[in-house]
Amino acid sequence: MIKIIFILALFLSSFIGQVAYAENTEDVIKYRKNIMKAIGSHISIIAANLKGKVSINEDILPHSKSILLTLSSININKTFPENSGPNNSNNTQSLENIWTEKDLFSNAMKDSVSKAENLVIAAESGDKKNIAKSLGALGKTCGSCHNKFRKKKN
Ligand code: HEC
Repeated sequence: MIKIIFILALFLSSFIGQVAYAENTEDVIKYRKNIMKAIGSHISIIAANLKGKVSINEDILPHSKSILLTLSSININKTFPENSGPNNSNNTQSLENIWTEKDLFSNAMKDSVSKAENLVIAAESGDKKNIAKSLGALGKTCGSCHNKFRKKKN
């Protein structure tokens, strides 16, 4: 029995070691793309209601909050670590200036977070015109970061 526990402990510790080690470039690239895609999906959900494609308006507030929560919880250092740019992988649209102009990148993120805050306030008011305006303003911040820090898709 003791032998089994010992072997199990050995197995587990090597597994934990591997988990810590396993964070490779491709995984973190996929990971951050998933975060971005999630944000994009929340935006599409809100937009579908604003355009009247569906009328499930009670979804606007939770999805606005989700955008704020998701954007504001992005840890740039961990989500965009050094050596996960275009020199290290063909699967990223991130541009190298994310790492050479870190402050600008981080400010672009802050700008987006603050516009997401405004979107939540508008969503709480329930005024669709205001929501549309705030969503547009948020969308601009996505676009301006992408213009500067993301490779254009051909
Ligand atoms: C501070 C910069 C920044 C902000 C702000 C930002 N993004 Fe991004 N986004 C990026 C970068 C960089 C990539 C490329 C990631 C990669 O390929 O490594 C990206 C990629 C994406 C992608 C493509 C994901 C894929 O599968 O390739 C989508 C969709 C996206 N962003 C949506 C959004 C939306 C919507 C917003 C605004 C609410 C937003 N982003 C705000 C920097 C930003």
